[in-house]
Amino acid sequence: MSYTIALNFEDGVTRFIGCKEGETVLDAAYRQKVNLPMDCSDGVCGTCKGHCEQGEFDMGDDYLEEALSDEEAAEGQVLTCQMVPSSDCVVQVPVASTLCKTAVGQVEGTVAMVESLSEDSIELAIDLDDGAELAFLPGQYIHIDVPGTREHRSYSFSSRPGASRTTFLIRNVPDGLMSGYLTERCKPGERLSLTGPMGSFYLREITRPVLMLAGGTGLAPFLSMLEQLAEKGCDQPVHLIYGVNKDDHLVKTDALDAFKDRLPTFTYATVVVDEASDHPRKGYVTHHMDAEVMHDGDVDVYLCGPPPMVDAVLKHFDREGIAPQSFHYEKFTPNQAPGEAA
Ligand SMILES: Cc1cc2nc3c(=O)[nH]c(=O)nc-3n(C[C@H](O)[C@H](O)[C@H](O)COP(=O)(O)OP(=O)(O)OC[C@H]3O[C@@H](n4cnc5c(N)ncnc54)[C@H](O)[C@@H]3O)c2cc1C
Ligand code: FES
Repeated sequence: MSYTIALNFEDGVTRFIGCKEGETVLDAAYRQKVNLPMDCSDGVCGTCKGHCEQGEFDMGDDYLEEALSDEEAAEGQVLTCQMVPSSDCVVQVPVASTLCKTAVGQVEGTVAMVESLSEDSIELAIDLDDGAELAFLPGQYIHIDVPGTREHRSYSFSSRPGASRTTFLIRNVPDGLMSGYLTERCKPGERLSLTGPMGSFYLREITRPVLMLAGGTGLAPFLSMLEQLAEKGCDQPVHLIYGVNKDDHLVKTDALDAFKDRLPTFTYATVVVDEASDHPRKGYVTHHMDAEVMHDGDVDVYLCGPPPMVDAVLKHFDREGIAPQSFHYEKFTPNQAPGEAA
């Protein structure tokens, strides 16, 4: 029996390692040439401390209180030199990946499909070389190099983790570098280089209702999360509110309908900003967060979209004093133009 451990480093890089039955995370990491921070490897110094975000494990009782206090353990902090997983786990490592002599992964692939879904969005499918199956956490993103340039752009996976065909939902930004490549030059058979996975926006273990708020192509990571939920099953209510500017920017509703069949606890609502629209729900996603989807605050909220939409939702939560049990968000911040100040 072997478990998959996602090590999330401080710089956003994620490395996946296999951990054998009875093996500590620290030993498994070193076996796979990931030098996690350590000193005593005996539960004494606390140097190997991290935070387990997800998964089951045993820490035994051979470590010292000075290395890890009971309060820290209750908060989910772990000593990787003592932690023996009994399921797949996600562990936050509080240092940069480079300090652990590991690097972000690089994969190559071939464009299998590139298609305009609306004037505003493009779907891209990439077959990874040799049928490689890319491990990532649903919600994470990867860098895709823009062919013929030295630039890359970040894109959230819309496909499920571990598939050899990865898909993306990409906004067609006027005069955008990647947008121009995808709409004018990219064809099936083109080669693409990808670097990742990365990011701390990913689906946590589900223990209460979930509310997903998507703006435009910010739907992408939720499609990946829903794929995983549909595959694994989920007892808790999962509600998605998906907002766009215009009627014909609504895409992938067939996939959302299919998720309703595959995942009985899943519901969704679409919202259109355009005042001239005949859509039954108009305005912004925040106008449609009814009490029943907020579960009196006992809800995990995930939010993803372009920066103005994310900022508007954050302000709304702040103004209304909405404090869900947990709140995770991803902003699709544009790349800085070369030479632009930080
Ligand atoms: C973590 C992360 C994940 C992301 N995931 C996705 C994703 O799944 N799908 C997706 O569509 N995008 C995603 N993005 C945004 C994406 O990386 C690019 O910024 C976007 O696709 C534009 O790239 P481009 O090369 O076409 O345009 P660029 O050449 O980068 O930009 C051209 C011009 O348009 C402006 N611009 C760029 N984006 C926007 C915008 N959204 N609205 C208004 N003006 C803009 C730029 O400032 C610039 O002036 C993500 C960004 C981050 C940081
Ligand atoms: S390395 Fe010292 S407590 Fe783990």
